[in-house]
Amino acid sequence: MKRTPMSQSSMPVSEPPAPATPRRLPVIQRSFGQTNRTDTWWAFPLLVIVVFGGFVIYSTWAAFQNAHYTFGNYLSPFYSPEIFGDSGHAWFGPKPGWWPGFIPFSPALLILWAPGGFRFTCYYYRGAYYKAFWGDPPSCAVGEPRKSYWGEQTLPLILQNVHRYFMYLALIFLVLLAHDVWDALWFADAAGKMHFGIGVGTLVLALNVILLGGYTFGCHSFRHMIGGKCDEVSTATFGSKVYDCASCLNQRHMVWAWCSLFWVAFADIYVRLCSMGIWHDLHWSIS
Ligand code: FES
Repeated sequence: MKRTPMSQSSMPVSEPPAPATPRRLPVIQRSFGQTNRTDTWWAFPLLVIVVFGGFVIYSTWAAFQNAHYTFGNYLSPFYSPEIFGDSGHAWFGPKPGWWPGFIPFSPALLILWAPGGFRFTCYYYRGAYYKAFWGDPPSCAVGEPRKSYWGEQTLPLILQNVHRYFMYLALIFLVLLAHDVWDALWFADAAGKMHFGIGVGTLVLALNVILLGGYTFGCHSFRHMIGGKCDEVSTATFGSKVYDCASCLNQRHMVWAWCSLFWVAFADIYVRLCSMGIWHDLHWSIS
């Protein structure tokens, strides 16, 4: 049987749905620290204060020491590169004569601003220390100490956008620290002749470069630079595989951030305590 198509005019006309009335959710203004959360939301900000704050205090103290930063061919990462200084690692010899007498001198003070700036402006750390140190907010759904949103579009926090430039410097530091690992593979005998070998300190410095590499190559700015800025990642200069690697590291950026922070401090402590004769480095070399 042949069916006649239903004409448009005979079709039942349904009423268009009435536009939904926008509902405004009430903004709950909580006082500082007030929350309905029952979990231990305060534990992580507290940990950040202790660990990050402890790192800042220790690294500042270590930077001002200007002593015990080398042991044999090991060089503390806090002092690398040693541009001017008294050790054999110094590029241009001891403290220059033009250095103002009223400013304390240490090779670390000449260079630590770069890796320090990289870490301080890191997108991950910003989230962590904003919460921990000035409660902005202390945690999700926890009352803030202020009513307005500061954002990062005005001074001083707009300066955090220099992160990408610190990232370029961090890449250079990675190369320099890797060169320190190479230096740490050579050991002098009693006659001063160098022998290829490996020591516990070599492994400590090598792991430092690996962890800093995982942190730097997972950086949001690095990921943007090598592919994120392209409309098609496959057209990126280094290809999509490199971008995928950076994305993979980026997913664990927080873990890389904390592990590399801990280990760079430990590497300085290791070299320092060996230099002071408190720890004894074990090494094996080919004679
Ligand atoms: Fe963390 Fe760049 S975002 S190092």
